[in-house]
Amino acid sequence: AGVGYLIQREYRRWRVLSAHMAQYYADFSLSPSQLMDLRNDFIEEARKGLRGEKSTCLMAPTMVDILPDGDEVGEYFALDIGGTNFRVIHVTLSMDKGEVVHVEMEDNAIPEEYFTCHGDMLFDLLASALVDFAKRHGRHSDDRPLPIGFCFSFPCTHTAIGEAVMVKLTKKFENEGMVGQDPAKGLQRALDRQKGNFKVAALINDSVGTLAGGCYVDADTKIGVILGTGTNACYAEQRSNIAALAKGRKNGREQQHPLMAINTEWGNFAAPSSPFTDIDRELDEETPNAGSHRFEKMVSGMYLGELARRAILRLAEQAQLFGPEVPPQLREPWALTSAALSKIDEDGSWLLSTTARELSETLGLPAALCTHTTCLRVKQVCHLVARRSAAVVAACLAGLLQQIDRDGAHTPMAPTTIAVDGGLFEHYQAYRAYLREYLDQMLGKQVSSLVKIVQIRDASSMGAAYLAAAIDEETQ
Ligand code: GLC
Repeated sequence: AGVGYLIQREYRRWRVLSAHMAQYYADFSLSPSQLMDLRNDFIEEARKGLRGEKSTCLMAPTMVDILPDGDEVGEYFALDIGGTNFRVIHVTLSMDKGEVVHVEMEDNAIPEEYFTCHGDMLFDLLASALVDFAKRHGRHSDDRPLPIGFCFSFPCTHTAIGEAVMVKLTKKFENEGMVGQDPAKGLQRALDRQKGNFKVAALINDSVGTLAGGCYVDADTKIGVILGTGTNACYAEQRSNIAALAKGRKNGREQQHPLMAINTEWGNFAAPSSPFTDIDRELDEETPNAGSHRFEKMVSGMYLGELARRAILRLAEQAQLFGPEVPPQLREPWALTSAALSKIDEDGSWLLSTTARELSETLGLPAALCTHTTCLRVKQVCHLVARRSAAVVAACLAGLLQQIDRDGAHTPMAPTTIAVDGGLFEHYQAYRAYLREYLDQMLGKQVSSLVKIVQIRDASSMGAAYLAAAIDEETQ
C-alpha cells in the first residue's frame, strides 16, 4: 500500500471519529433551554409526588420536623450505610453552640458478599461492628439504652421517625428480605441479638443527614444533596403541601413545626426532557435495578466512569479509536472508575500523561495504544459525561430552589446554603466548578451569588448523630 492509501485511510478514520465525537457533543451538552425544560419537569414531578399522585420522585415525608441547631448535648452513636462503605461513629456534643467535643469514626468496606446476602445478615454485620466499636469508644455509663441515629441511604416511606418501610434497593445492593420491611426494626433485632444496649432512635436517609449536618453548622442550610455513589436531595417543605400528612392523625406538632424534611429520591427522576442517550439505556440494562433510578445513572459516582467506558468502547468499535483492534480490556464492564474519569477530565499536563497513565493503569491498555490524539478523545468523552451530570443536577437544584422560594422571584432573597456530601463532589474539583457554572447560568449571577454550595464532610453520618440527639432531647 502506498503512502497515498495510508493517508486516505487515516483521513477516513479521522472523519468517522469526528462525526462520532460531534454526535456525543450534541447528545451530552445541554442547552440553556433544555435545562430549563428539565427544571420545569422536575418541579412538576416533585409536586405530583407531594400531592400523592404517580410520580418518578418519591418525595417521601421523613417525619423529621426538627433539625439540629447546635444546642444538642450528650453522647451519641450513629451507623451509616448506603454506598461502598459503612461507618460507625461516636460523637460527644457540648453545651457550646455547635461544638463537637469529640468524634470518633470507623469506616469499613462492605465485603462483596454482603451486597447480595439476606438483609438480616447485613444488619448483623452492622450491629456487631457497632457493638464492638462502642466497647472500645463509648463512655456511656447509665443503663438507659443509647439512642442511635441510623443513616440508611435507600428509599423508604416513614410512619414515624424511627419507623419505615423500605421501598426498593438501589446502587449495588440486591439483598433479599429488605424491601417491604422496616430497616430500623431489622437493625434493632440485630442489635438485640448482639446484646447491645442501643435503641434505634432515628432512621434517616443520607440526604436528610446532610441537611441536618448542614443546619448544625450553617443556619442558612435549606437543601441537603448527596453526590457520591448515588445521588439524592432533601429539603424542608411546608406541611400543608404534603398530601400524605393530611391523611394522618394530627398530634399537635403541626403548629410548632410547620416544616418537614422531604426525601425527594431524585435519583429516580425521569421526564420527557431527560437527556437519556442510547448509552444510558445500555448501561441501565446492565444494572441490578434496571428501569429504576435513571437520573442517578446519569449523575453519580457509581456510573460516570462506566458511561464514559461505554462511550469510549463505541469509538473503538465504530471508529477505530485504538486502531483496527478493539482492546479487550475496554470491554470489561465497570473497568473505568469515576475516580479515573475525574483524573482524566482534570488532566492539565502538556502531553496528557495522566490520561495515558490512567488508561494503562486502570484499564490495563498497552501504553503504545495511548497516543496523544487518542488520549485527547478519551478526555473529551470524560469531560462531556461529567459536565452533563453537573448540568442536570443544577437544573434540579434550580427547581428545588424555586419550590422553596429561593430562586430570586421574591426579593430580597435570603442567603441560602446547599449542603453537599459525597465523594463525587468532595474529590472532583472540576465537577464542583461545573455545578457552580450551571447554577449561575440557571439562576442568573446575582441570585446565584446568594446561594452557597458547600461541602460538609461527613455530613450524613454526623447528621444522623445530631438528629438522634435532637430527638432524644425532645423525648426526654
Ligand atoms: C440512592 C438511594 C437514596 C440515597 C442515594 C444517595 O439514590 O435510593 O436513598 O439517598 O442513593 O446515597
